Amino acid sequence: MRNSYIPIPVKVSKIISETEDKTLRTYDIAFCNEKDEENFNYLPGQFCELSILGKGEAPFGIASSPTERDFLKFTVNRAGSVTTEIHYLQEGEEIGLRGPFGNYYPVEKFKGENIVIISGGFAFTTLRSLAVYLRHPQNRGDYKNITIIYGARTPDLMLYKDELSEWEKQDDVKLYLTIDKPVDGWDKMVGFVPTVTEKIAPSPEKTWVVVCGPPIMIKFTLPVLSKLGFPAERIYTSLERRMKCGIGKCGRCNIGSKYVCLDGPVFSYAELLELPEAF
Ligand SMILES: Cc1cc2nc3c(=O)[nH]c(=O)nc-3n(C[C@H](O)[C@H](O)[C@H](O)COP(=O)(O)OP(=O)(O)OC[C@H]3O[C@@H](n4cnc5c(N)ncnc54)[C@H](O)[C@@H]3O)c2cc1C
Ligand code: FES
Repeated sequence: MRNSYIPIPVKVSKIISETEDKTLRTYDIAFCNEKDEENFNYLPGQFCELSILGKGEAPFGIASSPTERDFLKFTVNRAGSVTTEIHYLQEGEEIGLRGPFGNYYPVEKFKGENIVIISGGFAFTTLRSLAVYLRHPQNRGDYKNITIIYGARTPDLMLYKDELSEWEKQDDVKLYLTIDKPVDGWDKMVGFVPTVTEKIAPSPEKTWVVVCGPPIMIKFTLPVLSKLGFPAERIYTSLERRMKCGIGKCGRCNIGSKYVCLDGPVFSYAELLELPEAF
């Protein structure tokens, strides 16, 4: 069995700048060794620790779907020391990866029912993974309607723009894109994610919701979902906490009796109601 503290060598195969100011970059990662690739299995919602030798390590949600076999995808917001070092990386450079860690969105439970994905800002990463997974021809028949509500402050701050425009043309998913304030040339929705969710008013009938975004967005979206009739057990979210080990050993990420790295990062709203400090 592999030692979870030892990083697997991986290589940056592609870098995409998501935004004009280059604060958000997406990295496609390839395994250096075939055996590591074969042994790496994950589901949407899980995360990895990415490391640069001598610089440090940080956790990132996996943005690719397990149905995309040739690469792993991570989108990194330049926030501090490690994320800045990641932003200095060039294609072809080697880094370390530990994982996959944590639990995942309960895709088995979702089978045969509708799914609403609600996201804000760059938290869309693991929800991209979920959307690509659910819509893969191998899986699509297992799920009913898929609705995605995705908001960003401005059109430029939206992730995966090319992909979203492709999804908009396809009829197996309903995609609602929104920005905070009107701007010239934007012909889609305008308004904060909770308000737009209330306007779209997805039916709670046989429907699961996954909501992920900045804490303030989640805080205001949850009461809207309750008002629309979604029970807390049918709402899932993913939490972010400062992490170190990623495997439930260091005690950095706990909320009450739960370790976000081990018991999460995916929690149902019903579970979070038992953990008062979650938001
Ligand atoms: C499960 C999980 C998944 C994540 N997925 C992504 C992802 O897909 N893309 C992405 O860009 N980031 C993601 N993050 C956040 C990312 O791990 C942090 O931004 C990163 O650790 C910052 O490291 P740094 O050394 O660059 O920043 P530091 O120099 O350590 O800190 C810079 C600033 O960021 C704040 N900060 C650091 N870590 C966190 C955190 N976990 N939550 C809130 N504020 C923090 C610090 O307080 C400080 O103000 C995720 C975090 C977790 C726990
Ligand atoms: S990060 Fe170490 S216990 Fe969760």
